[in-house]
Amino acid sequence: GATAMAKEKHKDIVNVSHRGASGHAPEHTIKAYKMGEKMHGDYIEIDLQMTKDGKLIAMHDEKVDRTTNGTGLVKDYTLEEIKQLDAGSWFNEAYPEYAKPKYEGLKVPTLEEVFKKFGKNKRYYIETKSPEVYPGMEKELLRLVNKYDINKKTLLVQSFSSLSLKTMHELDPSINLVQLLSYKSNAVITDAEIAAIKEYAIGVGPNHTYLNKEYVQKVVNSGLEIHPYTVNEKERMNQLIDWGVTGMFTNFPDRLHEVKKGK
Ligand code: G3P
Ligand code: CA
Repeated sequence: GATAMAKEKHKDIVNVSHRGASGHAPEHTIKAYKMGEKMHGDYIEIDLQMTKDGKLIAMHDEKVDRTTNGTGLVKDYTLEEIKQLDAGSWFNEAYPEYAKPKYEGLKVPTLEEVFKKFGKNKRYYIETKSPEVYPGMEKELLRLVNKYDINKKTLLVQSFSSLSLKTMHELDPSINLVQLLSYKSNAVITDAEIAAIKEYAIGVGPNHTYLNKEYVQKVVNSGLEIHPYTVNEKERMNQLIDWGVTGMFTNFPDRLHEVKKGK
């Protein structure tokens, strides 16, 4: 019956720990990624920026200001300089209800460190951020994926930049890609847009705010995955699952886990 179907639907939803379990711990730290694992996130979401000396690091913003005690652009920092920064204390100040002394002084991880820590069979959902600022970042990402023998069956690469995704696709067509999308009002997608995305990607990641049932069903019926971001409330998680999304990004993978269990 309908209830059994609904439960069936809930079971396979891909739970993506957005910047790690970033509702609970400072985003893009090893601690946040570990917490994501513990809270049953299937994937670790990693945003990439590149240092002055060409190292890929896990950070959302082009500037270090919001998530560290430093100031200025990542591209003006060497990795050694980035490693001097405190990537945890800001969180304790911003979210006193989630603050923990052990977050003080956490370091910004490199992608290489994340791969070493979590291994080749971990599911990674990696975003090329500001690819126009960092020429060659796709090539460097692929080099590390190959160096650490990352399982390509459980790897997803995402970007707002279709150019960056097409570059990845040309470098290695076996890498599964997700086109990120951002809507500022009621989300609409045409057959032509879907067809164009299907040329290189296996799914789309739209912001969830302006989605509707028709949009979700159109995308799913086309054979593309749909992973909206960033969904933190259980009621909305349930609604999106009812509409047919195949996964979602959340700062609270524990909440999505409960929703999947029908709690
Ligand atoms: O990657 C999905 C979502 O994270 C995109 O937005 O700004 O949080 O990277 P942003
Ligand atoms: Ca992201």
